[in-house]
Amino acid sequence: MEYLNIALPKGRLGEKVYEMFEKIGYGCPAIREKNRSLIFENEENKVRYFWSKPSDVAIYVERGAADIGIVGKDILLEYEPDIYELLDLNIGKCRMCVAAKTTFRDNPEKTLRVATKFVNIARAHYAKKGRDIEICKLNGSIEIAPILGMTDVIVDIVETGTTLKENNLEVVESIVPISARLVANKASTKFKNQQIADIRRKLAGVIEND
Ligand code: PRP
Repeated sequence: MEYLNIALPKGRLGEKVYEMFEKIGYGCPAIREKNRSLIFENEENKVRYFWSKPSDVAIYVERGAADIGIVGKDILLEYEPDIYELLDLNIGKCRMCVAAKTTFRDNPEKTLRVATKFVNIARAHYAKKGRDIEICKLNGSIEIAPILGMTDVIVDIVETGTTLKENNLEVVESIVPISARLVANKASTKFKNQQIADIRRKLAGVIEND
């Protein structure tokens, strides 16, 4: 049997995801060793895990370097990669929101200035409302933009709401709920169907509902 390549998102979400794989019998003890290796194999299960930047998981899966992976719905909505979404894992839950300073009042006469990493999500959201916007693409710490008056609002992920609160910002609108999804490469879904279907079914069995 060929190895199944699995792209895991580096960080807290990745740890949770890996625990789910462990639970269904696809553990890989070497992954627990604290070192800086990025790729781990389990000969017995024929799985090969690698840690990638969360926003890159879909790229590895789309190109077939990974057969499956776990990626946030935010990335799927933003980049629309040509991959299959197999399962909502019900973890990494947050929402994509519009947020602004607590003193913000929208003036529909003026072009709205929007700071975000999620340019396509923001554009689609405001296009639906017929609202004129000007996007300021940033790569992180988006919250700073409205505080310094560079933009009127941000479109960003809100999880606990702490970042907004501690910066005197508040949610103006919720755009879409986000959670982690199991995704698969299209060709792998044909050629490694058995292995992928097995993992999908087993993961579905360990999803924790709230
Ligand atoms: C995300 C997001 C917010 C924060 C929200 O940032 O962009 O800044 O988490 O979480 P909270 O509602 O629980 O406070 P991330 O840590 O991914 O870093 P970033 O600033 O580089 O986007």
